[in-house]
Amino acid sequence: MCGIFGYAGEGVTSAVLVEGIRRLEYRGYDSWGLALACDDGIALLRRVGRIGSAEDTALDGCSCRAGVAHTRWATHGAPTEENAHPHRDCTGRIAVVHNGIIENHAALRARLQGLGHVFASETDTEVIPHLIEEMWKTEPDFGEAFLAAVRLLVGTFGIAVVQADAPDRLWAARLGSPMVLGLGKGRTLLASDPAPLVAHTREVIYLDDGEIAVLTSDGFETRTLEGGTVTKPVQRIAFDLPAIERGGFPHFMLKEIHEQPESLRNAFRGRIVRAEGTAKLGGVEPHLLRSAKRCHIVSCGTSLNAGLIGKYLLEQLARLPTQVSNGAEFRYAQPVVEPDTLVIAISQSGETADTLGAVREAKMQGASAVGICNVVGSTIARECGQGVYIHAGPEIGVASTKAFTSQLVVLALLAVHLGRMRGLSLRAGLQYLDAIECLPAQAARILERESELAEMAGLLARASHVLYCGRLYEWPAALEGALKLKEISYIHAEGVQAAELKHGPIALVEPDVPVVVLAAQAAVRAKTLGNIHEIRARGGRVIALIREGDGEAAALAERSFAVPSTLDPLLPVLEAIPLQLLAYHAAVALGRDVDHPRNLAKSVTVE
Ligand code: G6P
Repeated sequence: MCGIFGYAGEGVTSAVLVEGIRRLEYRGYDSWGLALACDDGIALLRRVGRIGSAEDTALDGCSCRAGVAHTRWATHGAPTEENAHPHRDCTGRIAVVHNGIIENHAALRARLQGLGHVFASETDTEVIPHLIEEMWKTEPDFGEAFLAAVRLLVGTFGIAVVQADAPDRLWAARLGSPMVLGLGKGRTLLASDPAPLVAHTREVIYLDDGEIAVLTSDGFETRTLEGGTVTKPVQRIAFDLPAIERGGFPHFMLKEIHEQPESLRNAFRGRIVRAEGTAKLGGVEPHLLRSAKRCHIVSCGTSLNAGLIGKYLLEQLARLPTQVSNGAEFRYAQPVVEPDTLVIAISQSGETADTLGAVREAKMQGASAVGICNVVGSTIARECGQGVYIHAGPEIGVASTKAFTSQLVVLALLAVHLGRMRGLSLRAGLQYLDAIECLPAQAARILERESELAEMAGLLARASHVLYCGRLYEWPAALEGALKLKEISYIHAEGVQAAELKHGPIALVEPDVPVVVLAAQAAVRAKTLGNIHEIRARGGRVIALIREGDGEAAALAERSFAVPSTLDPLLPVLEAIPLQLLAYHAAVALGRDVDHPRNLAKSVTVE
């Protein structure tokens, strides 16, 4: 949610900065801008729309020693040039980019206006440069003025600042919004996540909440907001440049869908302990797992759908009562959390503000939190202190795909592990592990049949409304199928429990409302086929996901796609892939911008 890139070093140009924020575009893409600190003032460029179109040559030829750039997902004020970052103070010599929300901006703005400051935008961010300007009037050291200003901010922020009187450096601060520093040769960089840093360096430092930094070409210094010194460990980015490039695919989303055989393998690699029929999850304290009496999963979006499947897995395999909550609901609903409640936070990015808020709430109530994250070193992973990385590799497409299926594999491993501690037999444990190991090859077989799904997607692309339904494990899988379709094609799609159809949603069934029925689960097959009959009897058109070899189900549906056979609890991993491809091809058929769906952002760092 908003991307920040900053660079301190010789030869900073608008092209260097544009290249940096282009790699963060998935965090927000309604407008963008950059500022170069030059000896004679700040050179500023701001634009509405996608980053770096051909006419943006305004700052060509301008080279300096420090610059910041920003790609925006609007919170306060529409996506206009005036509201795009960077924002400046009254003198125009301080330029600020910001990710997050300043909650006390209205009070600060009124106070600053009372002191004569003139505002040029509707944003919450603009209070920051004016506040620094105000502090600098009485505090001669700019760094101290910056610190004093940041201390007055309430809310969440990742902030980067350049100023024309010290045009060789950047100032940065972090509270609740991620900020990573990159340590290159003759240059020091900063960004909202490591993606744009890889082109310059693999050595990084993660700022923690309540820390500020000043960056020059030679390095950086960090302090806490209280003024204390901090020494930060240098870490190494685990991925390389090709991992964040499209590699010949027309969209990141399609590339990531096709990476699933590999990402699934990476999710269980080194974690299967055949001799004991269990999984090895080194990042979680065994006593915590042993003593857990119940689980509470917190997550958002696609990760929430993974959590709903996780609930069934944990209850069925480990007999642990499990609740699932959206992170924000958890935080504000006063949930019952006891010391023996295991809170499991699922987040691809590891930065989702609502999920992070839930983790903090759970810890405050004395529970232990375990993270299931993709981004190594992310805030949720660090704040949980323990957890399991899904190792899916960078996911750039805004609609989550490979992260979802890897989350499911990790949840299955966790359920087997917890189950084996609670009476799941060795034989059953081994059956699950065997089935998990088959998933990559089965996923590859599904991907080979992409053209069938591309053709079926035509039926969805012509519709205005689509229903998705399934029972048990296939219900959250249906929710995820519907979410994928609405996110990237803008077709209205609803996921419902197949058993609930008759209590309302079936009223929507008519020939031009296709119903995607997930009907591969053995345990409830007869009931789900009954639902297909009911839909057909009302003139509905059914696309069914069925189990390989189920001729009866195939004959019932207008169109069907057979998924390879696996254990029921693992079916959503395989069913997710055709659902992703259906959504992808429907969106492409409608000419949608698949990797940048309107109004969305990948990393939602505001509540
Ligand atoms: C945003 C993204 C979704 C994602 C959700 C949760 O809404 O567009 O794709 O599922 O955030 O993100 P997380 O990183 O916590 O899994």
